[in-house]
Amino acid sequence: KIINVILSGGVGSRLWPLSRKHRPKQYLNIFGEKSLFQLTAIRNISLCNSLTVIGNTDNFELSSKALQEIDIKQYQQIVEASPRNTAAAIAFAAFSADKDDILLITPSDHLIEDEDEYARSVNEAINLAKQDSIVTFGLVPTKPETGFGYIQVKGNNVIGFREKPNKETAQEFILKGDFLWNSGMFCFKAGIFLEELKKYQPDVYIKSEIAFIARNENRLPIEESMNIPSISVDYAVMEKTDRLKVVKSNFKWSDMGSFESLYSYLKKNGHPTDEYGNMVIGTSIHTEFLGLKKSILVATDDAILVLKREKSQKVKDIYENLSDKK
Ligand code: GDD
Ligand code: MG
Repeated sequence: KIINVILSGGVGSRLWPLSRKHRPKQYLNIFGEKSLFQLTAIRNISLCNSLTVIGNTDNFELSSKALQEIDIKQYQQIVEASPRNTAAAIAFAAFSADKDDILLITPSDHLIEDEDEYARSVNEAINLAKQDSIVTFGLVPTKPETGFGYIQVKGNNVIGFREKPNKETAQEFILKGDFLWNSGMFCFKAGIFLEELKKYQPDVYIKSEIAFIARNENRLPIEESMNIPSISVDYAVMEKTDRLKVVKSNFKWSDMGSFESLYSYLKKNGHPTDEYGNMVIGTSIHTEFLGLKKSILVATDDAILVLKREKSQKVKDIYENLSDKK
């Protein structure tokens, strides 16, 4: 079986106030008729023959409703009691599968254009996964972004994987020319992933297994969950495993993580900006900017955010400090 595992547990706090705890960005229709979550499910349904959604109690209903709207009826939902990061989330999906099932792990908040190239990459990854590799999807980097993982490659082989380097290191990687960005999608056999997790993060492995065994109708128990170390799969497995292979991918890809990337996307698609690179998102109220450059005003029914685009990564801090996260 080939199972698409959609990771949908994130809040998307860098897109506050558009993105909320109870309405995370992957369920919003900012990019058109369908949400990023729905686009993810649709993109993968013809390439895989099964779907597992893994998120938490806050987005359980949102996922069910979103899938119903696009007429997907056959799927499994695993509900986390509390987010324990991606190593544990993927472990739960792997425990729920047979060890020879192939998992195609996809985040729920990426925008991908060029479906043919996407399908080609996924099929290449599935073939490598059948030979017991852990497969990543590499994209040609365009700037020294520090929020991504970097893969040093030679053909399909991986020389090294480095998660979220600092600016200087990212710059070095780009100059060297044989590094790709990690797209955050992965493909492997469930059993192979669990073997590697057990080898490099035995604590995450064992505690995720304990929580998984104690689940109730695919809902994980809070007490056992809180014992699981919170670590992302990139640090936990991808930086360490020697089974790593890469599929170089040429589809257009954006991680809609911040207002900076949302700005670029909207601008490209004809959303208005003024001559100083200012943009209004979320309201059609007459707005003027005076003396501001490269700034964004974001409005929702109950909140307004004004920011300089270069501060996009810091919106997370505002969210963290909100007393009412709703
Ligand atoms: N179910 C569940 N539970 N999902 C989660 C959890 C969790 O605890 N934590 C995060 N996710 C989901 C997010 O919603 C997102 O879809 C995906 O897992 C990846 O998490 P992010 O938090 O967005 O990771 P990142 O962007 O910092 O880094 C990853 O993606 C980059 C590309 O976008 C890494 O894989 C990087 O190496 C990669 O370059
Ligand atoms: Mg992300």
